[in-house]
Amino acid sequence: MDDHIQALAYSEADFSIGDQNFVENLKAFLTKSDHTLSKDCFLIDLGCGPGNITERLAETWPFAKVLGIDGSKPMLEIAKQRLHSSASRFNNLSYQQQNLSDITSQIEPCYSPADLIVSNSLLHHLHDPMDLWRSVLSLSVPGTLIYHRDLRRPQSRDDALVLQQKHLPSAPGILIRDFLASLHAAFTIAEVQIQLIDIGLQHLQIMEVEDRYLEVFGIV
Ligand SMILES: C[S@@+](CC[C@H](N)C(=O)[O-])C[C@H]1O[C@@H](n2cnc3c(N)ncnc32)[C@H](O)[C@@H]1O
Repeated sequence: MDDHIQALAYSEADFSIGDQNFVENLKAFLTKSDHTLSKDCFLIDLGCGPGNITERLAETWPFAKVLGIDGSKPMLEIAKQRLHSSASRFNNLSYQQQNLSDITSQIEPCYSPADLIVSNSLLHHLHDPMDLWRSVLSLSVPGTLIYHRDLRRPQSRDDALVLQQKHLPSAPGILIRDFLASLHAAFTIAEVQIQLIDIGLQHLQIMEVEDRYLEVFGIV
């Protein structure tokens, strides 16, 4: 999403219900796995885009250090603008422009390893999906918590259209086009399972969520 118009259309769309669900599901995962985030813990949001979820993380855990990472300059410009217009609320939040394909060589040493690594709607955007799992491994230590959500690919084009008509019936054309493209590019649970086996993270859990998402969560 290196295109300014695409970044702006995305940042202006209202994803607030889905974003809030993401944070609620994340909190439920922490509770279920009996984990509380301690003071000064370090949270990373990979592929943070304009920062809508990253801000929610900083707000929900004000004592944590939160870093949003994204490869797109236009996306991060929007995220940083939002941050500066609400600086006093988010003094625990920062952003870094970084392509996940070479994150190991570039991440600031003071930031790694993370206590919690999340992503939302990222996996299907990557040229190589293994970049997500390699990034997770290079930014984590045993005990790091993992929580990722992405779309899952419907079985047919017709099923994708049904989802679009249900969830984005009257959005701007650019968002409808992106949503359909994203559904087609998304992975199935079986495909993500293979990715996790290939990288040695097969102990993470994968779950179908609602009619269009999958979630991957667990502890490294
Ligand atoms: C659909 S947006 C999701 C943004 C945000 N996580 C959210 O939930 O609103 C996907 C983001 O992944 C970023 N992205 C895609 N490929 C990337 C890569 N190789 N490295 C870093 N960021 C990438 C894009 O720039 C874009 O901001």
